[in-house]
Amino acid sequence: MDLGRDLVLATPLLVASGPYGYGAEVADLVDFDRLGALVTRGTTLKPRAGHPGPRLAEVPGGLLVGIGLQNPGLDAVLERYGAAWAGWPLPVIVNLCAETAGELGEAVRRLEGAPGVAGLEINLSCGNGRGGAVPGLDPDSTASWIAAARRGTDLPVIAKLTAAAADIWSIAQAAEDAGADVIAAINTLPGFLPARDGRGPALGSGYGGLCGPAIKTIALRAVWEIAQSVDIPVIGIGGVSVLDDVLDLLAAGASAVGVGVAAMADPMLPVRLGDELADACRARGVAAVRDLVGTALPKKRSAPSTRGAEYAR
Ligand SMILES: Cc1cc2nc3c(=O)[nH]c(=O)nc-3n(C[C@H](O)[C@H](O)[C@H](O)COP(=O)(O)O)c2cc1C
Repeated sequence: MDLGRDLVLATPLLVASGPYGYGAEVADLVDFDRLGALVTRGTTLKPRAGHPGPRLAEVPGGLLVGIGLQNPGLDAVLERYGAAWAGWPLPVIVNLCAETAGELGEAVRRLEGAPGVAGLEINLSCGNGRGGAVPGLDPDSTASWIAAARRGTDLPVIAKLTAAAADIWSIAQAAEDAGADVIAAINTLPGFLPARDGRGPALGSGYGGLCGPAIKTIALRAVWEIAQSVDIPVIGIGGVSVLDDVLDLLAAGASAVGVGVAAMADPMLPVRLGDELADACRARGVAAVRDLVGTALPKKRSAPSTRGAEYAR
């Protein structure tokens, strides 16, 4: 699967940011040569301690996560893992998070030419912790963050969007216009769970990010809308745990599919889903996975889901 700018995936299945950490954690467990790509956990210019625990809470249909981007900072990450990434048989994509577009630009410039880095994924759903907004909620800030990344690198730039945005059509268009090569959607969705005794939140972070099967149809809706609004490829992420989830995201318009929380419990799952997808293509007489992409898209552009009142009539 060719996502542009020399980012070529051997299979359309990749592991989304988070579950594999920086990859070294699972290198002995996963056949990297049978996986499309590995997206690292979120990384910031400076080290981040993350949120106090508890950081995970099981909820119906998924998991509520509040890690807070714990990471040792970009320089330490490159020093510790860059050489290993360069020797692995799959593209490693670094997931970047920042507090401002300027800080993002600085991180991106440091990654240009770094060994083993095949692409950058810009997490537009982590916010400016100092009172600012989450960039992916607004087309203008999405554009300024992606433009800052684009200016600093020739590597493929993936804009990772959040379905918490009301109008994902214009956000995806803003990312494409600002120079993104690929859109990834979706990230976790904000949720809240009280502690069992009702006193305060269950997670140390207060809010958490909801992931898992509970968000699958929201991810499908987002991918379906994004695929109608841009011409660049879409990586569909959200609630994938079985082959039907992969097929649904492809049908909704994704060219590649990311596995998130399900790969924490079962690190080989993304590889097996890639094998199952190849088997399904053979069984259906489908020559290439791209023939499955976008089959559920309408012939004529649909109305954005924000115009929900239209559906009520
Ligand atoms: C433990 C964990 C850590 C995550 N960390 C990040 C991150 O650092 N950056 C990011 O963009 N997304 C992160 N995500 C979000 C996933 O990449 C994915 O977008 C989301 O979980 C939805 O997919 P899923 O339902 O398959 O888990 C994380 C998810 C989990 C479960």
